[in-house]
Amino acid sequence: MSNSESREVDLIKDPGLPAHVHRRTDTDPAAAKRAERQVAILFSLSALGTLLLIFSFIFVSDETFIFIPVMGETNAHQLGLGLGMAIALFCIGAGAIHWAKTLMPDEEIVVQRHEFRSDDEDRADFVKTVKEGAENAGLGRRPLIKRTLGAALGLSGLTPLLLLRDLGPLPGDDLKKTHWKAGTRLVTDPGDRPIRPEDLEVGAVAQTQPEFPEGKERHLEDIAKDAVLLIRMRPEEFNLDSERLSWTHEGIIAFSKICSHMGCAVALYEQTTKHLLCPCHQSTFDVTRAAKVIFGPAARPLPQLAITVDAEGYLVAQAPFTEPVGPSFWGRLS
Ligand code: FES
Repeated sequence: MSNSESREVDLIKDPGLPAHVHRRTDTDPAAAKRAERQVAILFSLSALGTLLLIFSFIFVSDETFIFIPVMGETNAHQLGLGLGMAIALFCIGAGAIHWAKTLMPDEEIVVQRHEFRSDDEDRADFVKTVKEGAENAGLGRRPLIKRTLGAALGLSGLTPLLLLRDLGPLPGDDLKKTHWKAGTRLVTDPGDRPIRPEDLEVGAVAQTQPEFPEGKERHLEDIAKDAVLLIRMRPEEFNLDSERLSWTHEGIIAFSKICSHMGCAVALYEQTTKHLLCPCHQSTFDVTRAAKVIFGPAARPLPQLAITVDAEGYLVAQAPFTEPVGPSFWGRLS
């Protein structure tokens, strides 16, 4: 830097801080009291917002619609959640800002910066300053703010707990049970028509579901667990022990369609090789050997459903599945 440039820099003086202007709340106790009430109102509104959110989540059905001018028909559940959360978050933030701007100490403080660790004296000063700051914030002297802030913060902390409810009820032993029982007819999917052995030619594959009583609704989660594949082969093509052979009927064999790896639908049947293939990770099951795994990551065969025919000649289950269908999970025995 040349001498002339350094002289120019020397000429720029530190302007210092502008003169401090006291706020109205610093000099007028009535204004301070008013500000305190405003802060308390904002924190109270925040608490009410959280209560609205909780109420809407638990008590308002997500199928309830209400008419709101301009918005029209609106889902009351979603509206309550959105409004509640918006009010809770906005008011707690606005209250904190208003509190800081009107009631917290308004002083310019010069703090010397030090590199790395401060010396012990500064550290003690820091602790003292923090304590003074807490004291100056006036929580002890302003119990109204203290209580409403506590209520607002405490209730807003509950919000994440509500999300746990969205995980749904515990499954219990639902994962281990299907609707297949002794005598349950196999019906077409879709169509719900009972199936006779002669409906299937050799080489044919059909997806089936258990017959439901009249009026009982079939839910998606039922379909996902109950789906069964029927495959017809020549009886002499089976390579099964006598028990598993007795679970077949005139060359028709039934397996759970839910892959024992991660639960995809095993949907591809190679008629020439008699292999069932899962499209997700290519696990391959040999139909002639009770769906033994011959390739891929699946660790166990597809559960076989024992079938026979009822008095009217329709295919029925001999018994429920002898093991849980679907992918492996902790605590399962097979
Ligand atoms: S889900 Fe079938 S192989 Fe992975």
